[in-house]
Amino acid sequence: MNTKTLYVASPERYDNGMIYDRCGRSGVLLPKISLGFWHNFGGVDPFERSRAIVRHAFDHGITHLDLANNYGPPYGTAEETFGRLMQEDFAPYRDELFISTKAGYDMWPGPYGNWGSRKYLMASLDQSLRRMHLEYVDLFYSHRFDPSTPIEETLQAMVDIVRQGKALYLGISRWPLEATRRAIDYLAAHDAPLLIYQGRLNLLDREPEESGILRLCQEQGVGFISFSPLAQGLLTDRYLQGIPQDSRMANKPCLPPSRLTPELMQQLQAWNAEAQAEGRTLAQKALHWVLSRPEVTSVIIGASSTAQLDDNLGTLSRK
Ligand SMILES: NC(=O)c1ccc[n+]([C@@H]2O[C@H](COP(=O)([O-])OP(=O)(O)OC[C@H]3O[C@@H](n4cnc5c(N)ncnc54)[C@H](OP(=O)(O)O)[C@@H]3O)[C@@H](O)[C@H]2O)c1
Repeated sequence: MNTKTLYVASPERYDNGMIYDRCGRSGVLLPKISLGFWHNFGGVDPFERSRAIVRHAFDHGITHLDLANNYGPPYGTAEETFGRLMQEDFAPYRDELFISTKAGYDMWPGPYGNWGSRKYLMASLDQSLRRMHLEYVDLFYSHRFDPSTPIEETLQAMVDIVRQGKALYLGISRWPLEATRRAIDYLAAHDAPLLIYQGRLNLLDREPEESGILRLCQEQGVGFISFSPLAQGLLTDRYLQGIPQDSRMANKPCLPPSRLTPELMQQLQAWNAEAQAEGRTLAQKALHWVLSRPEVTSVIIGASSTAQLDDNLGTLSRK
């Protein structure tokens, strides 16, 4: 497809098998499969490939795109890529999109570009909005809990962000259980209820289940969205025959080759054989496992090609 042509979204985008589920006890419906911008959308990545992936996603009903201030690399450039797409392709579709961004990890030098102070969160979101050419985001996350900032400061800054109209909903990511409980109570008491918790849940990492986060979210009517549901590509056919040159493992420090132990390879081969017997790919088996949990609203996948996206979307047509 020549992506340089003017984009007109597929008229079939809501008839392609995407399923939308209510996010906790809210009015918001999220697609079961969402697209994340952590990798493959930075300044180092080919823009036209990024564009093709996002167009393909939206054409298949993926309305939720997940960003963060420091996605790239370099930091900020995933939001810039999205901002360009917003201007060139998606301006007519703003109200059909649910865009999230986050602040919480290191973003700029000095004492005000990290963690959970009011100073950082407010300034960071303003920067994000400028990069993305948006007036507001649909969802703003605290990207991680800051044990050194009073929890009320972080949470009140988030409430005020909603009051200012810069975000419609609030989320937290990777917060520990007790702090999450306090966040739910504080935000509810300030009329800006917690919409969603973002945590890593996949066949290899069940921490949100073990820590009680999943149960808490369900009890409290908070949605749960899983990031890295494919364990950064481990739970796909990507590494079954070795480490491809163009893969995340070959190129990014976040997925070192040391992860691929003989024990893990054996487990992956066994899951792959089971998947094949079930008529699925390994990626589809992994996504199906996460999505079949009743507490899970959506999964945020990453993709470096439209073919990967198609494989992942295929999960929804195989029960
Ligand atoms: N809140 C947080 O702290 C946090 C942390 C991490 C991520 N996230 C969010 O979650 C999103 C997804 O994370 P992730 O990228 O780690 O997700 P993932 O879906 O577990 O991994 C994505 C990678 O797996 C490979 N892949 C995906 N589908 C494939 C398929 N069908 N066949 C073969 N390989 C496939 C690709 O690797 P190659 O690039 O090698 O092709 C792709 O880049 C992020 O973009 C971000 O929005 C949030």
